[in-house]
Amino acid sequence: MSRDYYIAGNWKMHKTRSEAAELAKALVTQLKDGKHKYLVAPTFTAIETVAAIVKGTNIRLGAQNCAAEEQGAHTGEVSVLQLKDLGVQTVILGHSERRHVYKEDDALINKKVKLALQHGFEVILCVGELLAEREAGKAEAVCETQTVKGLEGVSAADLSRVVIAYEPVWAIGTGKTATPEDADAIHAYVRKVIGKLYGADAAAKIIIQYGGSVKADNAAQLMAKENIDGALVGGAALKADTFVPIAKFG
Ligand code: PGA
Repeated sequence: MSRDYYIAGNWKMHKTRSEAAELAKALVTQLKDGKHKYLVAPTFTAIETVAAIVKGTNIRLGAQNCAAEEQGAHTGEVSVLQLKDLGVQTVILGHSERRHVYKEDDALINKKVKLALQHGFEVILCVGELLAEREAGKAEAVCETQTVKGLEGVSAADLSRVVIAYEPVWAIGTGKTATPEDADAIHAYVRKVIGKLYGADAAAKIIIQYGGSVKADNAAQLMAKENIDGALVGGAALKADTFVPIAKFG
């Protein structure tokens, strides 16, 4: 298997600029010799600060969301043009907090995905089922719908800049991790969905991260699975002490 491992830290709505700078500096030092692909996604107000620290290192710069429009009367939104201006390379879209707390639907997420890709960004598209959906046996169907609708109109060429993150909603920030077997089963299913849409080669190449209470003590077991190519880390990404052991697994 030739897929590289990709470990991303989603800092969510945490950290002032000075706190973000401190963490970014520690990660630059401690991940210098790391052999995987890395990303940090600070809150919007800390992006410029972190950009100056990770520039030219092996850590990519991400944003946690973007607006569905390029510019205009959209109070409180942040545009891809503004993110590009700060040196952001990757945008996380469709995170479960955006879907379920801020009510973003698949159509809106798809619009953002296409806009971000059009502007040259890498996109991490998050998919994942709620607990009730898993209990009703609908986990695969939910992830399939979110994947298909999220990628509607995305060309095969642009898919090479898409990463999928499978994040079961019941595992995010709860301390409950999916078992490596359960996670891998969904990853395999999503890979099959990509295969149906874009062919076997694209399916074999696409990076599928797992997210949901990833910690140093479960990261290696998760990523040992055939279809798990990395992690999107929330809580454990907020400190170098907890993120670095995940980032350096293996
Ligand atoms: P968690 O968050 O690691 O705190 O569960 C993951 C995420 O929301 O990306």
